[in-house]
Amino acid sequence: MPKDFLTVADWTADELGELLARAQVLRRLHRSGERPQTLQGRTLAMYFEKPSLRTHVTFEAGMEQLGGHAVLLRPEQVGIGTRETPRDVALNLSRWVDVIMARTFSHSLIEQLAEEASIPVINGLTDLLHPCQAMADLQTIAEIKDPREATVAYVGDGNNVAHSLMLLCAVMGMRICIAAPEGHQPDVRIQGQADTLAARSGAEIKITEDPAEAVAGVDFIYTDTWTSMGQEEEADWRRQVFAPYQVNAKLVELAPKAWLMHCLPAHRGEEITSELLDGDRSLVFEQAENRLHAQKAILEHLLLSRS
Ligand code: CP
Ligand code: NVA
Repeated sequence: MPKDFLTVADWTADELGELLARAQVLRRLHRSGERPQTLQGRTLAMYFEKPSLRTHVTFEAGMEQLGGHAVLLRPEQVGIGTRETPRDVALNLSRWVDVIMARTFSHSLIEQLAEEASIPVINGLTDLLHPCQAMADLQTIAEIKDPREATVAYVGDGNNVAHSLMLLCAVMGMRICIAAPEGHQPDVRIQGQADTLAARSGAEIKITEDPAEAVAGVDFIYTDTWTSMGQEEEADWRRQVFAPYQVNAKLVELAPKAWLMHCLPAHRGEEITSELLDGDRSLVFEQAENRLHAQKAILEHLLLSRS
């Protein structure tokens, strides 16, 4: 089992299946008011280079609910790479806390922290990947349909969320079609990883420029912002490039039974209409809720299987 949770591609289908099963138990327990104290006395350090609502609150609340504690670190306090090297930060934190969760721009920074730290490091989003989101999404899909029977379309930017969703489908043997415009399709290295994993698992991974082709008859339609954190200056031209990829009433006519997914935050009226986001086929708040349960399962797995 890997020390860290940096990408779902490092984990097997059985391991991700175990995480999913525990997340489902934790969701039931939480909803019935039970708070298993499995991480009593454990501390999580959370480092955010970018804003966050869901990731911050679900990791902090998750640790507290499991009997542990979370410490918030901001780049202006810690200065990784300016005040101190990534190695020195990782070695210090390894002496004081039990696990690190980091949200960084550069994916190589989180890989470096994981390499240097003797404690587990969890990827809370990088420019390349968002694996905790993918685990919450797997849990959300599994509440409705056996993931191996499900068909998923991702429409929009081939970004970090698309990458982790694609890798998750590849590991788990699922079917996904990604519709993104030329120049914004998933990174070729991630496509290569997904293809290798799919050859083993039997997953079907397709990439197209045509949103209609991707969504036709699918069970789940997923979208994410056209302008990710760090790309704010590109927002105007991105709105034009991605306009044909909006998830709206006309597009979902091609998949009338589809459930709608979005990792949030949403830009209402851009990548998805408010009508659909708030409609009765929307799963967005289920996904947000499942961040809590999926991440508790990840924290338990990384911490308890090491002690
Ligand atoms: N989906 C997600 O990661 O949300 P935050 O950016 O608010 O953490
Ligand atoms: N792709 C988005 C996801 C936000 C949770 C971003 O990186 O900003």
